[in-house]
Amino acid sequence: MPKLTFPKNFIWGVAASAYQIEGAWNEDGKGVSIWDTFCHTPGKIANGETGDVAIDHYHRYKEDVALMAELGIQAYRFSVSWSRVMPEGAGTVNQKGLDFYDRLVDELLDHKIEPFANLYHFDLPQALQDRGGWPERQTAYAFADYARVVTERLSDRVHTIITHNEPWVTAAAGYFDGSHAPGIKDPLATFKAMHHLLLSHGLAAEAIRAAAKKTVKVGIVLNLNPVHPASDSRKDREAAYRMDTVLNRAMLDPLLKGTTPMQEFAVGKMLTASLIKPGDLEKIRTLDLLGVNYYTRTVVKNDPKFPVVAAVQIHPEGNEYSGMWEIYPEGLYELLMRIWKEYLTGPNPPFPPSLEGKGGAGGIGPDLMITENGVPVPDGLDFDGRVRDERRIRYLKNHIAQVQRAISDGVPVKGYFHWSLMDNFEWALGYGQRFGLVYVDFETQKRTIKDSGKWFADVIRENGFEL
Ligand code: FCB
Repeated sequence: MPKLTFPKNFIWGVAASAYQIEGAWNEDGKGVSIWDTFCHTPGKIANGETGDVAIDHYHRYKEDVALMAELGIQAYRFSVSWSRVMPEGAGTVNQKGLDFYDRLVDELLDHKIEPFANLYHFDLPQALQDRGGWPERQTAYAFADYARVVTERLSDRVHTIITHNEPWVTAAAGYFDGSHAPGIKDPLATFKAMHHLLLSHGLAAEAIRAAAKKTVKVGIVLNLNPVHPASDSRKDREAAYRMDTVLNRAMLDPLLKGTTPMQEFAVGKMLTASLIKPGDLEKIRTLDLLGVNYYTRTVVKNDPKFPVVAAVQIHPEGNEYSGMWEIYPEGLYELLMRIWKEYLTGPNPPFPPSLEGKGGAGGIGPDLMITENGVPVPDGLDFDGRVRDERRIRYLKNHIAQVQRAISDGVPVKGYFHWSLMDNFEWALGYGQRFGLVYVDFETQKRTIKDSGKWFADVIRENGFEL
């Protein structure tokens, strides 16, 4: 059996987010976030579930960090809850909220686990949503101030600060299809939100670098999917181009090329002049770490009925699926090669050799990492208390093999973070989808390492695995 090995300093980590695991939604001075409001609104979440308690990580973080250490996890990407730190989103700082992340960081460092702090993972303070939320430019400035507050407290020990997790999802699920908080369905608001999220990245990057006690890498994490046409017809290929523009280029172009593809859409064209102020695109293009979240690809066919993109997703027959998505490992290789060739090294125009940070890709641009990858499969405890989640192990083998393939072909991927350490609250789907390497009994909060967790621990120890 071939053995796949990884570069010497490759980082093996896990990722999670505040609202999905912490619970303690109204403790120690935390303010209300849009996810608190959304979950407390009947009909929004499967089975009326909420993250009020979630998996009680706020109280059990020591046990959870010990679990990570047991698995040999080298890095942990967690998110900071803005409303825990600034209950009204701006102004007053809640020291008790900051204290929690302080304790968490110390606990991680005590266990030799590198903290990657993520400032925003979908949970806007409700007070800012009441003033318009991400469609309002002012929210971007509030975010930069919050970034400063967190940086001042944590940057003596945290060396990577990620501004946003999946800003595309924040905008599209929050303001376009309304499946996420704040549950708005408005294409204009979506375009505005997308721009202000990107702008907030640039403003926060400035604030972080100004406040940092030591050198801090500033990153962003994007959800990216290769888009494939359902057929070879010209219409479907054009549909795929449009979907790719909205899904991938909408974020990659501003962040890495300093341009925006918004004008390619009528609604975007209409907005661009008033929305994108002089200097905005220059501010946005600043990055020391690009995190890629990869779960699936998107196959589309032309469909004029669908707003903005005139394309609709289809699910091809004959492939494997999970609780949420098609399983398509090759897409991860395709994506990494594309980012590398088109955005980090390619012409047209290449990423500038050095921005504020050193950049990791051989001095060419930002570090590149997989910051989320995982699969929801219906796990359960077997008669003997073990969780034999072979499907997850297979998924991981096949996907991590594609990362290795990209590395062998010259793409300097620096790390892989699994989503997630533990089963948790999967947004609108509630507790129905399990993504963890660790099984959680949501009644008793008992944690049990799954077979996939043991497998991942072996991979970390060996820095590789047999296919
Ligand atoms: C990503 C999110 C993460 C989790 C996984 C399954 O889009 O960043 O919070 O929900 O999907």
